[in-house]
Amino acid sequence: MSEGMLIASYIGASILFILSLGGLSHQETAQRGNLYGVIGMALAILVTILSDQVSAYGLLLTMVITGLVIGKWLASRVEMTQMPELIAVLHSFVGMAAVLVGLSSSLSGAEFASHAEKIIHEVEIFLGIFIGGVTFTGSIVAFGKLRGSISSTPLTLPGRHLLNLSLIISSFILGVFFISASPETALILLLIMTVLSFILGFHLVMAIGGADMPVVISMLNSYSGWAAAATGFMLSNDLLIIVGALVGSSGAILSYIMCRAMNRSFVSVILGGFGAKKVSSTSTDEAPKEHIVIHAEEVADILAHADSVIIVPGYGMAVAQAQNTVSEITRYLKDKGVTVRFGIHPVAGRLPGHMNVLLAEARVPYDIVLEMDELNDDFPETDVVLVIGANDTVNPAAAEDEGSPIYGMPVLEVWKATTTVVLKRSMATGYAGVDNPLFYKENTRMLFGDANDTMSAVMTALKSN
Ligand code: TAP
Repeated sequence: MSEGMLIASYIGASILFILSLGGLSHQETAQRGNLYGVIGMALAILVTILSDQVSAYGLLLTMVITGLVIGKWLASRVEMTQMPELIAVLHSFVGMAAVLVGLSSSLSGAEFASHAEKIIHEVEIFLGIFIGGVTFTGSIVAFGKLRGSISSTPLTLPGRHLLNLSLIISSFILGVFFISASPETALILLLIMTVLSFILGFHLVMAIGGADMPVVISMLNSYSGWAAAATGFMLSNDLLIIVGALVGSSGAILSYIMCRAMNRSFVSVILGGFGAKKVSSTSTDEAPKEHIVIHAEEVADILAHADSVIIVPGYGMAVAQAQNTVSEITRYLKDKGVTVRFGIHPVAGRLPGHMNVLLAEARVPYDIVLEMDELNDDFPETDVVLVIGANDTVNPAAAEDEGSPIYGMPVLEVWKATTTVVLKRSMATGYAGVDNPLFYKENTRMLFGDANDTMSAVMTALKSN
């Protein structure tokens, strides 16, 4: 294939990737966005295989078929709740690929037209391996924490920030020596730096609590993008540079959005330690608090007499896998003329878009699934709110109690509705570990049990009404 054709195809693939990202930002266009991504990737792989640089077709075919089989097998087995784990594993591959490409680039002993070009190439190698190393071990630890094979409690070693800083400074010093070193010494320096980057990635993510892992995953996603971009520079591959930059920047933007929605600073998440201590509100109101229990039949009765209902799902709906039952109730109520809408908090659940994906899977129409800001003002005019397995994202303390650790986090103001029914199994706290005054409000009713069981009981009662 001619160089011109290759470049034109790479530009085409890059445009498809950009269209794909644009499509993925809305539910209605997400499927199309996915398709653009698949076509772009197929085009990129095909033209790379047909390019003049590739000749070992037998080996390539074996690797591609092996990858396809493993990928297909994994994707068909993975549950929605295991998605972050899968993403973590995939990031570790990108990290390791950047390390291996960097080492082989360094060993290739390529000739350069000028000294400046040689230095630029060495900086690319060094940065690519460093970012790749951090991404590799960081992603493996993130995978272990999400899977439960590594404790989710943050590892808070004394002087841990100093340890991270000294690893970064040592790597930088090694980098300075690496640029002017002889080939044999350069390889040793590179290997030492690789080990340091592995330790840094391991230690950085070990210090972060398990529940902050979604932010970490998106941060590692960003790192893996920059590692891929560095690899693109090493291999002089424009497509890899563009794709790496797209992944790197979108991962960074996503991390920022998630932190803002949790009212946490990005730095506080990255430095870790959150969740090591049990937190409690500083509210001085120590009066004994009582909650009012409700049963499925009574909930069905309230729903049957309501004109407007807002459903607020959270992590518990994902745990209970209650989305299909929730969808069934929604259809039933809509058929009876009740206005039903869903209110989605940006960090409801444990990964971005968690609730949207579950609701789409259960065929809830997109037009009734609204973002927090789109319906937060409508709660005072709403008859019934069903809070299904959500807790922190509906906590009034975030809006009212300045001493609360989540004060300032934007929340869905469900307590302003006429009646709010909270479905959960106990009075336990949510991810942030803070008590929720919503449960003790006069207009709140607690429906205890697994959300799928209680929702099924409500559905049965509605039908027999
Ligand atoms: P949470 O505050 O975590 O509360 C979930 C609630 O679901 C718990 O109180 C739990 O109470 C209940 N639950 C668990 N299993 C259940 C089941 N089978 N049936 C019924 N209820 C069940 O959830 P949220 O409101 O969605 O908030 C998400 C939290 O995660 C936020 O604090 C957010 O900052 C954090 N976070 C989110 C993200 C992203 S990107 N989404 C990333 C990092 C952190 P019981 O145990 O009593 O049942």
